[in-house]
Amino acid sequence: MSVKISTCILLVSLFLGLHPITTSSRCTDSQKSSLWSFKNDLKFDSEPSFKLSTWNLSMDCCEWWGVTCDEAGHLTELSLNDDGITGGITSPHLKSLKLLNLAYNLLSGNFPESLLTSLPSLEALYLFNNKLSGPIRKDIRVASYNLSALDLSNNRLQGPLPEFIFKLPSILTLKLPGNNFTGSVNLDGFGKFKNLYELDLSYNNLTVIANTKKSSSFSSLAKLDTLRLASCKMQKIPNLKNQASLRTLDLSDNRFKGEIPNWIWSVGNGVLDLSSNKLKGDIPVPPSEVIIVDFSNNKFGSSIPADFGNALSFVVSFSISNSKVTGVIPGSINNARFLRFLDLSSNSLAGPIPLDGSTQSLESLDLSVNKLSGRIPEQLTNIMTLEFLNVSYNRLSGKIPQGGARFPTFSKLSFEGNKGLCGPPLSKTC
Ligand SMILES: *[C@@H]1O[C@H](CO)[C@@H](O)[C@H](O)[C@H]1NC(C)=O
Ligand SMILES: *[C@@H]1O[C@H](CO)[C@@H](O)[C@H](O)[C@H]1NC(C)=O
Ligand SMILES: *[C@@H]1O[C@H](CO)[C@@H](O)[C@H](O)[C@H]1NC(C)=O
Ligand SMILES: *[C@@H]1O[C@H](CO)[C@@H](O)[C@H](O)[C@H]1NC(C)=O
Ligand SMILES: *[C@@H]1O[C@H](CO)[C@@H](O)[C@H](O)[C@H]1NC(C)=O
Repeated sequence: MSVKISTCILLVSLFLGLHPITTSSRCTDSQKSSLWSFKNDLKFDSEPSFKLSTWNLSMDCCEWWGVTCDEAGHLTELSLNDDGITGGITSPHLKSLKLLNLAYNLLSGNFPESLLTSLPSLEALYLFNNKLSGPIRKDIRVASYNLSALDLSNNRLQGPLPEFIFKLPSILTLKLPGNNFTGSVNLDGFGKFKNLYELDLSYNNLTVIANTKKSSSFSSLAKLDTLRLASCKMQKIPNLKNQASLRTLDLSDNRFKGEIPNWIWSVGNGVLDLSSNKLKGDIPVPPSEVIIVDFSNNKFGSSIPADFGNALSFVVSFSISNSKVTGVIPGSINNARFLRFLDLSSNSLAGPIPLDGSTQSLESLDLSVNKLSGRIPEQLTNIMTLEFLNVSYNRLSGKIPQGGARFPTFSKLSFEGNKGLCGPPLSKTC
């Protein structure tokens, strides 16, 4: 009995020791007044705002919504994303602030450069999905040596990429897609960021120049995980031969012509997007650990190699739609056991549909607008996951399979344009 009681007292005192139930404020007066005047300078709609509108001067500011302090009461994070903030913004004076998230607001006007020039401890600045516009001044002096993440995606920023982004010694993540930045950028400019993890310059008005030599400084970035350069008017595929860590490579909508260099198949072991280029020649077998492969909208003019399906053993999504593919669909496609999305539409594929029902995870199968002939395999009705099917505009014939749970749900839009096909849902009887 007494053992139990003393254990209980011990536990209670431990609990009190670890979680002091005190009401004294952790937030310093200067932090509180900085935040309060920052808030007063902001315009926000109290309707969508569920953080700023609840700030209360009689509470500890470390407890305010969106505010995070460390143990010592230093204000380290301010997350006012998606809080209905409109118009311009001037930085709060917060020496210890490491993370500032203002994404998904309606910030407009010029780039708020004080966020970079007056926060000496800043490590992450998120301003994505706002309406910031105009050019960014070239010679901004970034106050923090430790800025490691900068995300300005999806604004309306214009003009050349500002100089300062090439001078961020600690940068790991740099995302600038979906703006109107102009001019040309040489990837080697990022070559000195030895720890760079993610770079995204997609969908601007930039011309990105790649050094194709494997000795280029960009090609030696060993930690690069994600590289997105979609719609960057690139003429040459950058040399990424040594980038063993690269998991996402998006080079879609560029101006690559001719054949894909062979080394590209040893990188990009997660997502490989080479869609919307003018790639020609052999359709290369993807690297074995790839999960998503998009080769659509190219001009290969060749056929899918016979063993192609064996290389898709971990692939979840494969598209080579609208890419001038000829020949037949190789039977090896049945070995792509994890395949969920397969799009071979709008090519010149001929011969039978070789699927034998082994692709048991298939959710979407688009074979429309080709020259496929023969019957629709009965085995497709055994694929319980199949939610979308399109075999329209081919040369298929015979009775449409009627079994399984999925086939009866497909409309005639899945089968139209095949003169020889008959049976429901088509009106032609067999
Ligand atoms: C601020 O907090 C105090 C103490 O918790 C409370 O009495 C007061 O009503 C609050 N003010 C507003 C505007 O919410
Ligand atoms: C920058 O980061 C280093 C290493 O984490 C740290 O020692 C230093 O205090 C940081 N500088 C500032 C201004 O926060
Ligand atoms: C880029 O500029 C063009 C032409 O001024 C404009 O139509 C387009 O909406 C702009 N795009 C963005 C993302 O600001
Ligand atoms: C894209 O940049 C070029 C010059 O590099 C310019 O002439 C053109 O107007 C820009 N387009 C848009 C939409 O801003
Ligand atoms: C199948 O593709 C054809 C041709 O692109 C299209 O007209 C039809 O609507 C598609 N069917 C379905 C079910 O999406």
